Amino acid sequence: MDNVKLSDMTTSDFEVISPILSSNFDDFWSSENLKSELNNPASHYIVAKINNVIVGFAGIWKSVDDVHITNIVVKKDFRKKGIGSLLLQKLIELTKNLNYKELTLEVNALNEPAKQLYLKFGFKNLGIRKKYYNNTDDAIIMTLYL
Ligand SMILES: CC(C)(COP(=O)(O)OP(=O)(O)OC[C@H]1O[C@@H](n2cnc3c(N)ncnc32)[C@H](O)[C@@H]1OP(=O)(O)O)[C@@H](O)C(=O)NCCC(=O)NCCS
Repeated sequence: MDNVKLSDMTTSDFEVISPILSSNFDDFWSSENLKSELNNPASHYIVAKINNVIVGFAGIWKSVDDVHITNIVVKKDFRKKGIGSLLLQKLIELTKNLNYKELTLEVNALNEPAKQLYLKFGFKNLGIRKKYYNNTDDAIIMTLYL
């Protein structure tokens, strides 16, 4: 989609997202978590907008040796249009510019769209954390070497 604009998430973006997190983004995060991430100097959040309306967001957290993708989510009605790819591409770029060599994440083993997205960008499966989510679903650890 060529009319998608990416920018850093601002407090006013957060205020727009917060009340529609669970309904429009089926996010697994509370707005309290997102707010504290936004205020965390080790984190960096971006939003994707079409005509100034937020259609997705994503974030990273900078650790000592690597960068973690904390979240990447596209508004339900806008999926499968390339917006997740644009967000991920930007996170990869940000990580490279910070001179880190690894971008890593955990994904629910049952989350096929997300797994496919990461595989498409060259992430490798590094292992499994058993029953990581709600003590039920396994997490797959995936890393992209930059
Ligand atoms: C995962 C997610 C961000 C993908 O966003 P998106 O905008 O739909 O992704 P894109 O349109 O850029 O698709 C890129 C690739 O992802 C994969 N993909 C996306 N949706 C898919 C689906 N429903 N089934 C299988 N693969 C899928 C495909 O490989 C696709 O490439 P292709 O179009 O060449 O087939 C989106 O599904 C989402 O918001 N999910 C809910 C939140 C979530 O689970 N986030 C991940 C947390 S780790």
